[in-house]
Amino acid sequence: MSATSMEQLISLCKRRGIIFQSAEIYGGLQGVYDFGPLGVELKNNIKNAWWKSMVYERDDIEGLDSAILTHRKVLQYSGHEDTFSDPLVDCKQCKTRHRADHIKDNKCPNCGSADLTEPREFNLMFKTSIGPVDDGTNFGYLRPETAQAIFTQFRNVVDSTARKLPFGIAQIGKSFRNEITPRNFIFRVREFEQMELEYFVEPGTDEEWHETWKNERLNWWVEQGLKRENLVAQDIEGDDLAHYAKACFDIEYKFPHGLEELEGVANRTDYDLGNHTKAQNEFEITAHVHPNKDSNAKLCIRDEVNNKWIIPYVIEPSAGVERGVLALLTEAYEEEDLGEGNSRIVLKLKKHLAPVKVSVIPLKKNHEKIMETCFEIKKRLLKLGIGRVSLENTGNIGKAYRRNDEIGTPFCITVDFETIEKTPASVTIRDRDTMQQERIELDKLEEFIRGQFI
Ligand code: GLY
Repeated sequence: MSATSMEQLISLCKRRGIIFQSAEIYGGLQGVYDFGPLGVELKNNIKNAWWKSMVYERDDIEGLDSAILTHRKVLQYSGHEDTFSDPLVDCKQCKTRHRADHIKDNKCPNCGSADLTEPREFNLMFKTSIGPVDDGTNFGYLRPETAQAIFTQFRNVVDSTARKLPFGIAQIGKSFRNEITPRNFIFRVREFEQMELEYFVEPGTDEEWHETWKNERLNWWVEQGLKRENLVAQDIEGDDLAHYAKACFDIEYKFPHGLEELEGVANRTDYDLGNHTKAQNEFEITAHVHPNKDSNAKLCIRDEVNNKWIIPYVIEPSAGVERGVLALLTEAYEEEDLGEGNSRIVLKLKKHLAPVKVSVIPLKKNHEKIMETCFEIKKRLLKLGIGRVSLENTGNIGKAYRRNDEIGTPFCITVDFETIEKTPASVTIRDRDTMQQERIELDKLEEFIRGQFI
């Protein structure tokens, strides 16, 4: 277990505007959360770091942004209609519902009664009617994973980019699962975001690529600030594998509630491309859901070496953004004893993830000349493109430092009387981690800040 507790994180998230319960004023919508002014920045920074590492820094990955509303046939032939379910039991005593695999000693986790129904399968997909006639036939789903559109658009991407194997398609976006028992804050929720890569490879090279991507993804999380000793790559086997996977590594993190999955790295073989491909074709597909009578597509690629068309295998690193937020907050949260009865909460996020990059603080509230300089500094720093630069016109330096420590702002710049009265003009710059302050000439400020972030 991590030293940071869930209560500490929930309290910080609410107090500082990172995460709020959805529809809180109406009693809350269970398993659904809203990201506040700082949460949206943190989430965007995580997603940007992922996108940069996948799509911009590599030469073998394309991006995609597909629709959330999903055609029923997609999820029929992907196997989700038949198999994307959890076993559910009802407590006859208190009328609550639970996942059968969360029941201990055959007792209801809510009231302790042993009067439970037999488990039955409960499909986790959100069904929704599409169009103005709701007669039960015109329905689709909110996607349960972003991956399916990567498969259904595979030929369009290949044909428009002339990609050869191995290559990947990356996507970030919302997915929805009607979890029986959402829990552990933003860990198990009904609406969430995924960062998914489908990396297409030649059959036979899949196991090697699976290992490669496991290591890539472990390294990426360490680069974002998670300690390697808090991460475990778990080899998933047998019944614990998803219906489409031949093998899977779960990258698990020591969350406040225990060691649980942060990202899955699955070997999905040719399962998805094969099942969305027209039946009775020349391909031998590893595992069929139903022979596909509804698609005319052949989701294949030219094998130049053997001069034939093949259906590639796919390796899928799939991470949850909310789980990433929770892991990074857990790791970054510290309560520091400053001696003499003083302490502080500090969020030691990596600089590129911090919701606010620099906070500009006037020593005296509403002082015209000081404020003028503050606005000018903010304008100049924004031009660096480092992210959010805030201006805190509260006139209480101590409070501003405390607040910025709690939200993880790497640098606070204070504009004081020396700034406006002496030449050359200078400001103080305070480092979040060391709490040291340095005076720096205004003319050198941009260069210093650029050097810290770029
Ligand atoms: N695409 C994998 C998952 O959603 O779990």
